[in-house]
Amino acid sequence: MLPAPGDMPIITLNEGDTPLIEASRLAQAIDPKLKIFLKFEGLNPTGSFKDRGMTLAVSRARYEGMHSVICASTGNTSASAAAYAARGEMRCYVLIPGGKIALGKLAQALIYGAKVIPIDGNFDEALCLVREISENHPIALVNSINPYRLQGQKTAAFEIVDALGRAPDYHALPVGNAGNITAYWMGFQQYAASGRCAGLPKMLGFQAAGAAPIVDGAPVANPETIATAIRIGNPASWKSALKARDESGGLIDKVTDAEILAAYRMLASLEGIFAEPASAAPVAGLLKLAKRGYFQREAVVTVTLTGHGLKDPQTAVDQVPEPQMVPARRDAILRILDL
Ligand code: F0G
Repeated sequence: MLPAPGDMPIITLNEGDTPLIEASRLAQAIDPKLKIFLKFEGLNPTGSFKDRGMTLAVSRARYEGMHSVICASTGNTSASAAAYAARGEMRCYVLIPGGKIALGKLAQALIYGAKVIPIDGNFDEALCLVREISENHPIALVNSINPYRLQGQKTAAFEIVDALGRAPDYHALPVGNAGNITAYWMGFQQYAASGRCAGLPKMLGFQAAGAAPIVDGAPVANPETIATAIRIGNPASWKSALKARDESGGLIDKVTDAEILAAYRMLASLEGIFAEPASAAPVAGLLKLAKRGYFQREAVVTVTLTGHGLKDPQTAVDQVPEPQMVPARRDAILRILDL
């Protein structure tokens, strides 16, 4: 199912095969008619779904004789590119929006040995720059406009069908540069075409309200959101995201930062799953849709949790009051315990 020639050495960290976790407490809170399953992509080797595409894009670049890779990133792509480049003995260069990526992602890119270049600009500007550079120099671009990235990412849709034994009725996921919604739609369609499932899900994409060009119908010059992973104003795969939405009969909507943070806390406190803020956007989206009566009957809903919460610990600790130090004495502790 993948464009990988037999003699191509595969640069891999054993990505994929992430769990599909039933979330019954979350379903109870959102809409008891639904069965909700979470595809926890934060359990990939570098903590996000990017690894599925990066194994193929980096293997391919190496196979074609390249010695270095470059990308623009809101964080996760840079972490993944840096790891696979290290493993494939290649150099890695990443352009990031200065001061606007989560600390864990920056730490990853640095420790894997990438050359990290923060720019005084946003993701969209960084992507324009790396596109230009890769067109004029012998360096492989590993952003999702690299077709091998989406080919690799489609495998998550295959795994969902394999785990459920059928296609879900709805699939929800966050939308930033819009590569992943494109990849999932391709994956579900290919699986159906090869006879592995009968139906196809309606694709439900969610952008952050301050970075919702597809929903608002125009590029956003200065996107802003707490979900820095999807702080993107001019998605590269805009057209194919619309195609996924329309062909599947789904929708692309937006959720506010307050809604994202509420969903982020719900995932952790109801299900014990710590996903990064961008990953909570589709959960916030399902809450929004359920409130307006979108789901008419029982349905199976799958949700991609795109990245691990540990990537962005600051956002988590900012959500709760700071624990206060107490004397190391039993009576002091017992006064605090709610027994
Ligand atoms: N969720 C997370 C955690 C992401 O890192 C991204 C994208 C998305 C969702 C959106 O996926 O772009 O395919 O629509 N992160 C990219 C990066 C842009 O540079 O790491 P998309």
